[in-house]
Amino acid sequence: MVELSNTLQQFVTENLVDRKHTAALKWDALQERYGNADLLPLWVADMEFKTPKAVQDALIQRVEQGVFGYSLIPDGYFEAFAGWQAKRHHIQLEKDWLRFDHGVVNSLYAMVHWCTKPGDQVLVLQPVYYPFMSAIEDNGRQVVSVDLVNQGDRWTIDFDRLETTLAQGQIKLFLFCSPHNPVGRIWTEAELEKVLALCRQYHVQLVSDEIHQDFELNGHKFTSVLNVAKGRYQNDVVVLTAPSKTFNLASLANSHVLIPDADKRQAYDDFIKTIHATENSLLGQVAAKAAYQHGEAWFDNLLGVITYNYQSLKEAFQTNCPEITVADLQGTYLSYINLAPVVNADALEDFVQNRCGLAVDYGAWFAPKDNTYIRLNLATDPAIVKTAVQRLITELKNQTK
Ligand SMILES: Cc1ncc(COP(=O)(O)O)c(C=O)c1O
Repeated sequence: MVELSNTLQQFVTENLVDRKHTAALKWDALQERYGNADLLPLWVADMEFKTPKAVQDALIQRVEQGVFGYSLIPDGYFEAFAGWQAKRHHIQLEKDWLRFDHGVVNSLYAMVHWCTKPGDQVLVLQPVYYPFMSAIEDNGRQVVSVDLVNQGDRWTIDFDRLETTLAQGQIKLFLFCSPHNPVGRIWTEAELEKVLALCRQYHVQLVSDEIHQDFELNGHKFTSVLNVAKGRYQNDVVVLTAPSKTFNLASLANSHVLIPDADKRQAYDDFIKTIHATENSLLGQVAAKAAYQHGEAWFDNLLGVITYNYQSLKEAFQTNCPEITVADLQGTYLSYINLAPVVNADALEDFVQNRCGLAVDYGAWFAPKDNTYIRLNLATDPAIVKTAVQRLITELKNQTK
C-alpha cells in the first residue's frame, strides 16, 4: 500500500482550505451545473490548496498600498519567470518573445481569429480540453480531429492519420495540448519532433498549450516545443503558458504568449490590438513573480501529494476492479478513466452523480466517442480522492453483481 509521508501530510494539513461558500466554481456551481449541490466535486482543474505563503504575502503587501490604477509589469517579472523556465525545463526564454493575456483560453480564441478565417479547418487531437473545440466552433471554424489512439493505459498519436490529414492542405492551424489534458501524456521529444516536422512540411501553424508543463509525474520529463531538436522549430511555434495551474492562481487572470519569431510576433501585435488592448493583471503578475521566485518547495510537495493520490487510486482500482483501466499519469493532475467494462454510456451520468454522488468531467466533453470515460481531478485532499474512489469501487462492484 502506498503511504503519504509525514512531510506530505503536513503540507496537506497546512494548505487545505474548505472552499464551499467562497464563490468557488468547483464547489458552489454544483446545483447549477449538475443539479445537485451535495455532490463531491472532482471536476474543474483547480485545487483545494492555498497558494504558497510567499505569494499571499506579496499580494497582501501590494493590496495594502491600496491603489490599483494602470500599472507596468512588475520589475523582475521576466527574470523570475525565465528563471523558473530555465530551472524546471531548461528553456532559455528571451524577453522579446513574451506577451501577456488574461488566460490561456482567451489566447486559444485569439489564435483561431489570428491564424484562420471563418470556415477554415483547425486541427486538434481528441480527446482534448473542450475549450479547444469551443474556440474553433464559436469562431465559425471547423474542428478536425486526428483522434488519439488508446493502447490500454497509454495514449498515442496516430502519425499516419496526422500526415494524411495535414497533406490534404486544408488545415491552417493546429491547437496542440502538451502535456495533454485529459489523457495525461507528456509527449516525448521524438513524438514532438514528428509533429513539428509535419507542421513545417505542410505549412500549418502549431500553437502549443503548455499550461500543465510543471506537472511531471512518475519520472516523466516535460519537453517544450521550444526545446525540440535544440530549438530547431522555435520560429515555427507559438507557446501558451501560465502560472495558474502550477500555483492555483486561475482567477488572477495572468497568462503568457511566447512567440520567438520576430515577424510572427509583429503580426500578432498588429492583430491583437484590433480585438483587445490588454491591460496586464497587476495582482496576477505580483502573485506569479513571487510564486516563481519562492514557490518551488511548495510545488514539489504538491507534486508529491498528486503522485500519492494517483498511486493510491491506481492501486485501489487494480485490487478491486481490475477490469477498469486507469490511464498512465505522466503529466497534468487529471486521471482519465474508462468505466466501459462496467457502465454503459447512457447510464454514466446517473451512475456517477446519483449513485456515487460525484461531480466529474465527462469524457464526452473531450471527444464524442469517449462517452464512457470520466476525468477526476487529483490536486486535492487525499481524503477526497479516497472517498471518491471508494464510492466508485463500491458502486462498480454492485453493478457487476
Ligand atoms: C490544457 C488547458 N488549457 C487551458 C486551461 C485554462 O487556462 P486559463 O484558465 O488560463 O484560461 C486549462 C484548464 O484546465 C487546461 O487544462
